[in-house]
Amino acid sequence: MRTIDLNIRIREFTFDEMPEADRQLLEQAKLATYNAYANYSRFYVGAAVLLDDGRVVIGANQENAAFPSGLCAERSAVFAAQSQCPEQSINTLAVAARNENGFLTDPISPCGACRQVVLEMEDRYKHPVRILLYGESRVFELSSIKDLLPLSFVDAHMHG
Ligand code: THU
Repeated sequence: MRTIDLNIRIREFTFDEMPEADRQLLEQAKLATYNAYANYSRFYVGAAVLLDDGRVVIGANQENAAFPSGLCAERSAVFAAQSQCPEQSINTLAVAARNENGFLTDPISPCGACRQVVLEMEDRYKHPVRILLYGESRVFELSSIKDLLPLSFVDAHMHG
């Protein structure tokens, strides 16, 4: 028997100490929260995807009376980016969220399904996706979705 310890690295910043380009992307994620259709949860999530050529595509959560038919902000943004620019790999995904009290103090982190979708983008383009998670008090930066999805499942595992 042996124990396997996994390490993940999260870099924590205050918003003001982030580089200007990251602050701009986070601002776009914050603005995207106003495009959310969140009539049921009243939880407004925005995502901004920075493509490798510098283009930014935003997404926001879209809910539905038939609950499972809705979609998270992260997948809305990633799928929109891939639909519009399938040749472009994703460089960074920025996420922000607010409720009726305003933007959350601490960062939120993508749900399991969104993590799996972002992982597929890393696998598809052989390019890590940097993740920026916004909170009013601090911003988290991760250099790959793999840090949020250890022991992940990708296509290659079916052929190994
Ligand atoms: N949601 C997101 O859009 N992204 C997340 O990372 C967490 C949750 C949405 C889904 C749903 O519309 C609402 O937030 C409450 O779960």
